[in-house]
Amino acid sequence: MIDIAFVKPALPRHGALVLPIGEGAEAFTGLAQAIDAATGGAVQRALTAAGFKGRKGQSCTIWAPALADGAAGPARIVSIGLGKEVTAEAAEAAGGALYGLIQAEREAVVAAEALPPPVAAALGMGLLLRSYRFDRYRTTEKEEDKPKLERLSIATDAASAAKAAWAPLRAVADGVFLARDLVTEPPNILNPLEMAERCRALESLGLTVEIMGPKELKKLGMGAILGVAQGSAQEPRMVVMQWNGASKGKKGTAQRPVAFIGKGVTFDTGGISIKPAAGMEDMKWDMAGAGAVIGLMAALAGRKAKVDAVGLVGLVENMPGGNAQRPGDVVTTASGQTVEVINTDAEGRLVLADVLHYCQTRFAPRFMVDLATLTGAIIIALGHEHAGLFSNDDELAGRIMAAGKAVGEACWRMPLGEAYDKQIKSEIADMKNVGGRPGGSISAAQFIQRFVDTKAGPMPWAHLDIAGTAWSGKDLATSPKGATAFGLRLLDRLVAEHYEG
Ligand code: BES
Ligand code: MN
Ligand code: ZN
Repeated sequence: MIDIAFVKPALPRHGALVLPIGEGAEAFTGLAQAIDAATGGAVQRALTAAGFKGRKGQSCTIWAPALADGAAGPARIVSIGLGKEVTAEAAEAAGGALYGLIQAEREAVVAAEALPPPVAAALGMGLLLRSYRFDRYRTTEKEEDKPKLERLSIATDAASAAKAAWAPLRAVADGVFLARDLVTEPPNILNPLEMAERCRALESLGLTVEIMGPKELKKLGMGAILGVAQGSAQEPRMVVMQWNGASKGKKGTAQRPVAFIGKGVTFDTGGISIKPAAGMEDMKWDMAGAGAVIGLMAALAGRKAKVDAVGLVGLVENMPGGNAQRPGDVVTTASGQTVEVINTDAEGRLVLADVLHYCQTRFAPRFMVDLATLTGAIIIALGHEHAGLFSNDDELAGRIMAAGKAVGEACWRMPLGEAYDKQIKSEIADMKNVGGRPGGSISAAQFIQRFVDTKAGPMPWAHLDIAGTAWSGKDLATSPKGATAFGLRLLDRLVAEHYEG
């Protein structure tokens, strides 16, 4: 991971010097002014010649300029545009774009004297998130093909304020990297057992981690998750992670926690309703909801969030083994409700059914948010630009929409309703696990909602269908091609804005 430091301004003698420049920004100050003077005005001349105006997405690189005094100077000076409004969001995006422009240098200094400390920190965050790379299984890559950047020094006169702004961002970045690692790991390595062990490792951050296997799941009556697991040689696990950042050390009653639930299908073949071969390898990503929840819990603990939070993940492999469940099977869920399994490929909702019920009955949380790569239909509806948001609570939904917007994880609210719920009526059981192709993401959400109990009082719940956003086929502003950790930053922001203190 790139080392990010906040330092006193000084002109670098090698590597990259980065000049973040807002649109219509006044004359150069600080290091920008110093390098322009030292190069005899070459920087200003180059920017004019290149038509650089500081617009969003603009950049201009000057290679190895001679310094007037003959001293060694930076190998490249990279100006990047921040746009008209120099916000944290703009700086984060610029930081992401900056990574590609300087990754071939070992070191870089950012002239951030004119930026407010949180904006300077956001630039570092964008760069760090964009630099993510998973190379555990590359053994023959040539040295010259690897990115070089090791250290980004952010030059500021307010180093202590910038460091304070940076600390929580760094914890969130660690969580994002953890989630992306989990999602990217191949499915022969990251089976339910291994994934549970990676949760256990988070005890070092102060999280309480409980791992439950088939015996405990049976005792809890979790026939739905067990039904999915029975076609695989790998045992299922349910992991409960707790972070007590609000009640720690305090006397009296604990706060009701906020709760996050993740679908963790470590590989989804479809089971007996088996998927076609083409592209099936992508189904290693079917645990991205759980990955985001695990990364989120790591982030909350890492930044010592003042909240009581629980994260629960249902970890299971969906395989068509000799003992696999059949289309037509009826399973009894932990809630007592029965489900006719029409299609064994609609397994995520079965996993969530048991975990949601367990979460609500054990913790009586303030709200529950689940994340799942649940339906191909949400990709048909929303593409890869928005996650589908389903909720029984307008306030919670509004907060999630706003948090998503703020961190670049956009959601689009989808409807719920009785007419959709009818789609999952069964002839033989309380419900069936598929509702047909029309509105496939919605009937899936209806299914999940049946395991949120509002008979005794309200239980705010939201479901994020992240099938289209958990990974990306192209580089995004702060996420290279591949696993995005979608939902993690959104929920971290949701907690920070509304549920801390
Ligand atoms: N994991 C898939 C959903 C999925 C599909 C995620 C494509 C990412 C990309 C899920 O378990 C699934 O198979 N859903 C089925 C449901 C259907 C059988 C009702 C689907 O979407 O086809
Ligand atoms: Mn499936
Ligand atoms: Zn699935």
